[in-house]
Amino acid sequence: MSIPQPPTSPDTSDIPAAKAWSGRFSEPVTELVKRFTASVTFDKRLAYADIQGSLAHAAMLARVGVISPADLADINRGMAIIRQEIDAGTFDWDLAREDVHMNIEARLITLIGDAGKRLHTGRSRNDQVATDIRLWLRDEIDMITERLRSLQLALLDMAEKHADTIMPGFTHLQVAQPISFGHHLMAYVEMLSRDEARLDDCRKRVNRLPLGAAALAGTSYPIDRDNVAQTLGFDGVCENSLDAVSDRDFAIEFVSAAALIMTHLSRFSEELISWMSQSVAFIDLPDRFCYSSSIMPQKKNPDVPELIRGKTGRVNGHLVALLTLMKGQPLAYNKDNQEDKEPLFDTVDTVRDSLTIMADLAANIIVRPENMRAAVMKGFATATDLADYLVKKGLAFRDAHEAVATAVRAAAESSRGLEELSLDELRKFSPLVGDDVYLVLTPEGSAALRNHIGGTAPEQVRAAISRARNRLGQ
Ligand code: ARG
Repeated sequence: MSIPQPPTSPDTSDIPAAKAWSGRFSEPVTELVKRFTASVTFDKRLAYADIQGSLAHAAMLARVGVISPADLADINRGMAIIRQEIDAGTFDWDLAREDVHMNIEARLITLIGDAGKRLHTGRSRNDQVATDIRLWLRDEIDMITERLRSLQLALLDMAEKHADTIMPGFTHLQVAQPISFGHHLMAYVEMLSRDEARLDDCRKRVNRLPLGAAALAGTSYPIDRDNVAQTLGFDGVCENSLDAVSDRDFAIEFVSAAALIMTHLSRFSEELISWMSQSVAFIDLPDRFCYSSSIMPQKKNPDVPELIRGKTGRVNGHLVALLTLMKGQPLAYNKDNQEDKEPLFDTVDTVRDSLTIMADLAANIIVRPENMRAAVMKGFATATDLADYLVKKGLAFRDAHEAVATAVRAAAESSRGLEELSLDELRKFSPLVGDDVYLVLTPEGSAALRNHIGGTAPEQVRAAISRARNRLGQ
């Protein structure tokens, strides 16, 4: 039996495209080359930034007398129509016009004639596209910062509810010491606050104006770059024209900050997934974040955190793609740079959605404190406290460590916890043990003793929460 195959895409490599776009050429590109080089299918996402940049450029040209006030009025009118067409979804994006810039310019010329032909005076697509990306990315950074803050607030609320909830803290995934569940969540707030600071720092370098660099060398028109920078809300101008058109450091910095955000979300996802496993059972997740299996009817799988963990890979990939894109490029602009957009766009989409979903998820974790506590009790989590207790009674730490190790072994052999050993039994390991020892052997006592900044004592967790709320202005 033969299985029907889907049709393959036709090989159009030798069909000439309708029309070459310039008098410089004697033959048009083929359909395949046209498709291969066009970016409009994805860079139309920059349309509003492109219009915003063009309007500022045109206003400056009129101000310095390179175009007339009437031209400027026509350009403003034409761009308003184009914006409406894009809003309404009626704008006719044409692959033959290569990219978002040429599509909008061509439409402007159709709408307003000669004034439209004057817009590109003193400008190149090289400084234009660099300006568009920066304008667009600046807004996206602000939006992602908002989402980062929402996730932090969700974690803060959950941490506040669980400042007194005791869980095992792990090292090597082995029970180590009792900690507050709120303290564990606050570790992620720390990570996300660094992410926020990184984005803020990156934004400073995004927020510089390349326009005016023209193709690569600047322009002979009497332009006023500071004026354009001010109109567009940039903090200043890029100060070397070659660097202005070729620099994509700001995009790499952003994707790098995004990769770290995803890394943090991925680590949290990994914890949620293992905490939800039946053999751990520290938490459950609401059904709306889970899916079942197509074969096993009993299954409730944590698909959402698994996907966030998985999507971290694609953002890491985008970071490597951008670094690789730049490493071999000579100054100044090269067409390679057109490849910066899809990784950047996908990074923004992935980080935005991951943060948004994670904020909802974090606010709705169903916590099982009794299972967390039971797990602490299984792991001799207060052994360090017993050693510290002996040190405070005068024993050297290494000797205390050894005495407690022997006690743990004895308790394990009789399948008991340290707190289940009698005073007489404990005194066999050190005569310094007194009947106040049981205070440090409970997990609550152990956590409460770590009462300094950064420690897991519930009192400190509440202090950390209030510092974080202050920082977030809440
Ligand atoms: N679509 C191009 C890009 O994304 C715009 C700049 C093209 N400039 C040029 N000289 N071919 O980078």
